[in-house]
Amino acid sequence: MRCQLAFNGKAVEANIGETLIDAALGGAMLIPHDCRSGQCQSCRVTVVSGSVDDRGSAYGNTVLACQATVSGEASIEFDELPLPVKRTGIITEINELSPQIVEVVMTTSSPLDYRPGQYVRLKFSGFPAREFSPTCRLDGSRTELELVFHIRRLPDGLVSRELGIAINPGHGAHVQGPFGQAYLRDGHGPLILVSGGAGWAPIWALARMARLNQRERELIVIAGSRDAENLYMRPALDWLIDDGVREVIATSEKDGSDSVKRGLPTHYMPPLGPEDTVHVAGPIGLVDAIKSKALDAHARCFADPFLASARSASLADKIVRRWFRHARI
Ligand code: FES
Repeated sequence: MRCQLAFNGKAVEANIGETLIDAALGGAMLIPHDCRSGQCQSCRVTVVSGSVDDRGSAYGNTVLACQATVSGEASIEFDELPLPVKRTGIITEINELSPQIVEVVMTTSSPLDYRPGQYVRLKFSGFPAREFSPTCRLDGSRTELELVFHIRRLPDGLVSRELGIAINPGHGAHVQGPFGQAYLRDGHGPLILVSGGAGWAPIWALARMARLNQRERELIVIAGSRDAENLYMRPALDWLIDDGVREVIATSEKDGSDSVKRGLPTHYMPPLGPEDTVHVAGPIGLVDAIKSKALDAHARCFADPFLASARSASLADKIVRRWFRHARI
């Protein structure tokens, strides 16, 4: 049996019993999602009118689109993400931020639309592609055509060890994206942003966006690094303090001081509750530890684990890319 739904105002014919994600895909609309198993909460949508079979996922007038199924006419709303596109450009700046972290600025031929917290695939001409999260400069600035990346130099990294050697300002580059679900949603509860190392890139982009668009929200920011000399984000932390954020914490595993707490970001997490939203980016051990704390407290958690070379694609990203190829956009 079929019926008609509206997704963000667009009419879509759907089968009774199919999930809202599948129903939307039938109308060439992608509801952001990741696990498809009711765990990650990234697919929560609002039922504006009509009804769906929520399959136990209802919270207020929202449901999980991977669990809820079509039961009749309904109008559904969700955040639409920018579709992945390709852009060409050149590297215009390579700046050493710390002994390990390099800031790379790419200037593109036309703007690339993304949500802070998402990532893109960056390919320096002649080198393999890697995935990085665009961010802003440490003073918070960025122009429309600029993509700013923080890249950790790895001694045996095929790409990162060539920054400033074979890859210099003027080098050609391609970028494809955006991908990823760890972007900032609307909300009212406290926002806890946690980074390790170059995981500061997406966390800084999220923090800037939160201070621009969600100023009423309580914000806690924790940035960690193995050693204090690689706490390259200190100018950004100062910016947040000057902007009125009261809980801004820098941690170092090896060195403590008046301004740097000794230990891991996990040691300085506040007690969490269901009203909290956590974003964490960085080494996989840190990300897993924070995810587990959030899970225990029933807090929402959006995680962006960094692997040494390239991150594997989530299911949602694979779907986006497949659909993108079919759509030939
Ligand atoms: S909860 Fe629906 S995709 Fe994860």
